Amino acid sequence: MRPELGYELELRREGRAVFYSPRIPERRNFAPTSLPVFFNPFSKPNRDLTIIFLAAKFEGFKIRVCDALAGAGVRSIRILLETDVVGEVTANDISPRACELIRLNIELNKLGEFIEVACMDANELLAGCGRERPRYHYVDIDPAGSPAQFIENGVRGCKRGGVIGVTATDMPALVGAKPESCLRKYDSKPLRAPFAKEIGLRILAGFIARSAARLGIAAKPILSFSKDHYIRVFAEVHGGRRLANEALKSIGWISYCPSCLTIYSAGRFESPITACETCGRGIDYAGPVWIGDLADKDLAEKMYLRALERPELYRESIKLLDGLRREDHGLLGYHPVNHLARAFGCSPIKPSMLVEKLRELGYRASATHIDPSGVKTDAPLSALKGIFEELGAKS
Ligand SMILES: C[S@@+](CC[C@H](N)C(=O)[O-])C[C@H]1O[C@@H](n2cnc3c(N)ncnc32)[C@H](O)[C@@H]1O
Ligand SMILES: [Zn+2]
Repeated sequence: MRPELGYELELRREGRAVFYSPRIPERRNFAPTSLPVFFNPFSKPNRDLTIIFLAAKFEGFKIRVCDALAGAGVRSIRILLETDVVGEVTANDISPRACELIRLNIELNKLGEFIEVACMDANELLAGCGRERPRYHYVDIDPAGSPAQFIENGVRGCKRGGVIGVTATDMPALVGAKPESCLRKYDSKPLRAPFAKEIGLRILAGFIARSAARLGIAAKPILSFSKDHYIRVFAEVHGGRRLANEALKSIGWISYCPSCLTIYSAGRFESPITACETCGRGIDYAGPVWIGDLADKDLAEKMYLRALERPELYRESIKLLDGLRREDHGLLGYHPVNHLARAFGCSPIKPSMLVEKLRELGYRASATHIDPSGVKTDAPLSALKGIFEELGAKS
């Protein structure tokens, strides 16, 4: 116990940082929100990818970063220790206890001259950017729960050409278990579907783009992923109504037929598809969502190569990055192979084999980082069925 803080601390190591966190109970399912200051060791991949993202995206620059909901400050500290692209960080948290711990951790890592600690409501701090303080090249929004209330000011806090990185942990809302909650927070209808987590990513990406558009700003996802019980979207921000209108062209609807497994999309100014064009049944939809690319494949490749250079720091995250660099991020949704096998009355085949066969036939196809059994493709169900009948023994 450090008497000046009034609770027990433990010294931890993550990446290149050594820092104090509140003492963490042994059991795996402890609630980080119950600690005097929030810290979740299982979010390391979230922090890893933020660091690798910044190093790859801003190579050759010196940027200013706002860690708007900083907790114990580990992300801010690691960003400075593990990249050479960051000149200054504002580590902000509304909790005075969190700020006290951030200061202690900054001192421990001798980073005082690079980190400013702020103890403000994130919305207040970010809304003041452009007036009381300069805008940031990168704004990080990492709340426990929904980030919805911070997005508009997060975008306000970004320089044009900058990036906002957003975590959401309110998965029941985003995957369709609590649809009213999703409508309330994101003004979007979720959908229970085998690829509901990808829809969750598309709801969040769409919400960022729509919130930015209200300000005459274009926001476009350049890296997005789902991991454990959270999702994360990094969106690049550019000024101008013309670009904002352009970005809104990637907002639309996704429909899914659970009977014949067809996935449909429709643009924002069209109606969502509610009758399956293949089997005629009434079907449900999600939206408004982002129906464009969720990530830039070249950036994912660059990040993967960077992570490989330092396996001792990023071991847990290399597999995720490998998945992201292999994925076709423009294809909507995916099919778990066992769903296809059941629908076609065949035995499942290996996802990698299905991807290969689809590509041989000239279709777009890839794995998805979200589900190792999932296959993304633009091929019609009839083509998928043909492959199953050729390769999978009838079950
Ligand atoms: C999930 S934790 C942040 C974890 C941290 N980003 C990390 O990587 O370890 C969320 C933090 O947001 C802070 N917080 C909650 N509401 C806030 C607000 N309105 N403004 C600023 N900070 C807030 C909480 O005190 C908490 O420390
Ligand atoms: Zn159908």
